[in-house]
Amino acid sequence: MGEPHDADRRRVHGRRKGHRLRAGQARLVSELLPSLRVPVGSNNASEGPGDPAKLFAPPVEKVWLEIGFGGGEHLFEQARANPTCGFIGCEPFVNGVAKLLSLVSEAGLHNVRIHDDDARRLLEALPDGCIDRVFILYPDPWPKTRHNKRRFINGDNLDQLARVMAPNAELRFASDIAEYVRWTLGHMRRHGAFAWQALGPQDWRRRPADWPATRYEAKALEAGRVPAYLSFQRVP
Ligand SMILES: C[S@@+](CC[C@H](N)C(=O)[O-])C[C@H]1O[C@@H](n2cnc3c(N)ncnc32)[C@H](O)[C@@H]1O
Repeated sequence: MGEPHDADRRRVHGRRKGHRLRAGQARLVSELLPSLRVPVGSNNASEGPGDPAKLFAPPVEKVWLEIGFGGGEHLFEQARANPTCGFIGCEPFVNGVAKLLSLVSEAGLHNVRIHDDDARRLLEALPDGCIDRVFILYPDPWPKTRHNKRRFINGDNLDQLARVMAPNAELRFASDIAEYVRWTLGHMRRHGAFAWQALGPQDWRRRPADWPATRYEAKALEAGRVPAYLSFQRVP
């Protein structure tokens, strides 16, 4: 059994449930989700999903991963625009999962799989170098200093991301909290496996055209906050 501080470290800090699901959403969670769920064992990679590209039929050329997809708007738009990519979305909040399931079933997409739990469990179970792109968009900022350690961008998670990402794979990050943006740039630089790269002719304040908006971006803009869009390359 782990030490208490390990247990705290492993806890998902955030809501898993919100308001009661509508009947149609509840049906999708009980009937569709099991067929889309990524098999992740309880202990280690030997019980995990193996090569995630094999989860998809028809076959896919690349596998992209979104961590904390919220209501799934970004993941859905990306999956629709990139039918030869397989998408794995991680989100422990069941109401968000239900929203994505509605979008996926209405559009009849075949290239989406879901890990409805802590992304860290999935990362630990994935084999090396199997992910071609990662999205971490508006992660919970945990602004109080004593909660900073809960931020998804931290040394342990960057180690796992560096391990599962293929050489030259991209990690996209967005946040409207300037202090979390500075924190991320600092962690990435110190880690060494990621290089911050320019996003074409635009600067970090402008969302590229192939980067669909999310609900949290809309909230940030409405409140007058300025989001930053960062792209990092997994250096080979
Ligand atoms: C602030 S919301 C942003 C949602 C979405 N990306 C957007 O931009 O609208 C952060 C999301 O990350 C999810 N989350 C937090 N910790 C997570 C973890 N360890 N693994 C996967 N998702 C997580 C939360 O449930 C929440 O939905």
